[in-house]
Amino acid sequence: MIKIAPSILAADFSRLAEQIRLVEQGGADLLHIDVMDGHFVPNITIGPVVVESIKKHCNLPFDVHLMIENPEKYIENFAQAGADIITVHVEATRHLQRCLRMIKDLGLKACAALNPATPLHTLDYVLNDVDMVLLMTVNPGFGGQQYIPAMTEKIASLKQKLDRLDKSIDIEIDGGIGADNIDEVTQAGANVIVAGSAIYKSDDVAGMITKLKKSV
Ligand code: DX5
Ligand code: ZN
Repeated sequence: MIKIAPSILAADFSRLAEQIRLVEQGGADLLHIDVMDGHFVPNITIGPVVVESIKKHCNLPFDVHLMIENPEKYIENFAQAGADIITVHVEATRHLQRCLRMIKDLGLKACAALNPATPLHTLDYVLNDVDMVLLMTVNPGFGGQQYIPAMTEKIASLKQKLDRLDKSIDIEIDGGIGADNIDEVTQAGANVIVAGSAIYKSDDVAGMITKLKKSV
């Protein structure tokens, strides 16, 4: 069963609670929250204060995607704010395994993310420390970008690798996913699908989640 994680980056921030309610009622499985620091990526978005305030308005698990340098500094803040899953980028920390253990020790699910150009072997020695791997299918920083076609092969290689090692680790993908390519990426092996623009820029926000699920 695939899971849909709407990214609130594409939502109307002036009425965030309402926008979140729409996807929750529409059958979203997770709420994807993109945290950017203006250093790791060329954009600044939201911090723990916002996460804490929207937590009161939503019962979905919070999937917090940290696109920030030295994420270890803020893991505890996001955990306290209400994160259920915390994702750190392998490119953003010198101590990936320590970061992942910090997340697990706080009782949360840990996820490691790879930028499009980062090879899969960077995960070889942390596969026992992750619940999920996030493959970026665009370069992180902005919503509304085009899916990078070479990522389909990367998803398939990761799936084969995890199957070969008999690891039940979720494969999340993020960037440029919509009804036209969700089948391709799920066929390749992705099972947690982030979608920002496809959902929030649609005329029928809630209905789009069903449409995405049906397109698989
Ligand atoms: C990009 C973010 C994504 C983004 C996806 O840096 O990590 O989560 O919001 O947006 P779409 O679905 O519009 O590509
Ligand atoms: Zn994201």
